Amino acid sequence: APASKLLADAPYAEHLTAAIGELHAARLPPADDARWRRAVVEHVNSIAARLWRGAQVRMFGSSASGLHTRGADLDLCLLPPRPPHINAARRMISSIGVELEAQGMLEVLPLPSARVPIVKFVDRASRLQCDICVNNLLALNNTALLGAYARADGRVRPLVATVKYWAAQRKVNEPYRGTLSSYAYVLLMIGYLQTTDPPVVPSLQQLGRLDGVERIVDGYDVWFCDDPGAHGWSGSANTQSIGELLLGFFARYATEFDDAKHVVSVRLGRMLERAGKVWGEQQTAAARKGRRADRHLFCIEDPFEITHDLGRVMDTTSLGWTRAEFSRAHALMQARAPLAEVCAAWSDA
Ligand code: GTP
Ligand code: MG
Repeated sequence: APASKLLADAPYAEHLTAAIGELHAARLPPADDARWRRAVVEHVNSIAARLWRGAQVRMFGSSASGLHTRGADLDLCLLPPRPPHINAARRMISSIGVELEAQGMLEVLPLPSARVPIVKFVDRASRLQCDICVNNLLALNNTALLGAYARADGRVRPLVATVKYWAAQRKVNEPYRGTLSSYAYVLLMIGYLQTTDPPVVPSLQQLGRLDGVERIVDGYDVWFCDDPGAHGWSGSANTQSIGELLLGFFARYATEFDDAKHVVSVRLGRMLERAGKVWGEQQTAAARKGRRADRHLFCIEDPFEITHDLGRVMDTTSLGWTRAEFSRAHALMQARAPLAEVCAAWSDA
C-alpha cells in the first residue's frame, strides 16, 4: 500500500477533514463577489467595445472555473473580432491601459512587451486586482476544463482551496520568484486525484472520447468531456475523506513522484515517463552543447498545450524551496500536526 494509506489514522484524518472544511468555508468568496466580478467584466467590456468594434471581454482563471477563493485576482481576456498579430495585441494592451487610466482605475500597469502582453490594474469600485490579456483562447478553454473537474467531484474544490492557501502561506506560489503558479498547483491536485486507487476524478480528455474526435484551437486539441455522467462515469468509487486525500497529496509529491523520471499529465490521467517527452531530449541536447541545461526539473504538462511545462518557471533554487515545503508538509502530517501548523505563515526567523 502507498505510504499515504498507512499513515492516515482515523482520528487524524478526521481532524484534517474538519479543518479543511473550515478553511474552505472561511476562504469562500463573499456573497456579493460574483456580482462585483461581473460588474468589472461589463465595465471593461464597454471600454473595449468603444475602442474596437465587435471586441468582447471574457472572464477566465479561477473566477470562471469556480476554483477561486476570497480575494483571488480577476483574469480577463480581450477577444477582438479577428485574431490579432502579436504586435497588434501589444498595441491593444497599451490602448486599453490608457483608457483604464482615464476611467479612474487604480495602479494601471500595461506590460505590452511581456511574452504574454497584459495590463494589470485594480478596479476602483471593487478593489479587485485584475489582469487583461488578449485573445488567449487556450486559457479560456483550460478554464472550462478546470471547471469541469471542479464539478466532477465535491472534494476537488476544498482540496484545491487548501493547497492554494498552503502554497501562498509557505511562499511557494510566486511565479515571479520562480515558484509555481496557482494554475500549476491545481494541475498537481487534479493529477493526484486522477491517480488515487480508485481515482477520485477521471481524465476528462480521455473519458468518452470517440476515435478521431478533436477540437483544435490555436493548434492544440482542446476537446474534453464536460458531462462525465453521460459517458459512463457514475461518480467516483473512491471513498477517502478530504483529510486522507490531502495527506496522500503531500505524500505523493514529497515521496512518490520522482521528478527525474515522471511528468504530471492531467491529459492522460496518469504519471507519464519523462523519456517519452521531448523535454528530456531538449535537456540532454542543451547539456551536450555545454549550455546550461534548459529548465525542466519538475515537469507538469499543460493539458492542452502539451509542449508547455508549467514547472519550467522553477530553477534549482526555487525547486529546492518547493521540494522542502512538500517535505515539510508531509513530515508534519506524519507527525499528526494540526492543519493550521502545516499552513503556518512562512517566516525566516
Ligand atoms: P488564483 O488566481 O490564485 O485563484 O488561481 P487561478 O486558477 O486563476 O490561476 P492563475 O491566476 O495562476 O492563472 C489564471 C489562468 O491562466 C489559468 O486558469 C489558466 O487558464 C491560464 N494559464 C495558462 N497558462 C498559464 C501559465 O503558464 N501560467 C499561469 N499562471 N497561468 C496560465
Ligand atoms: Mg487568477
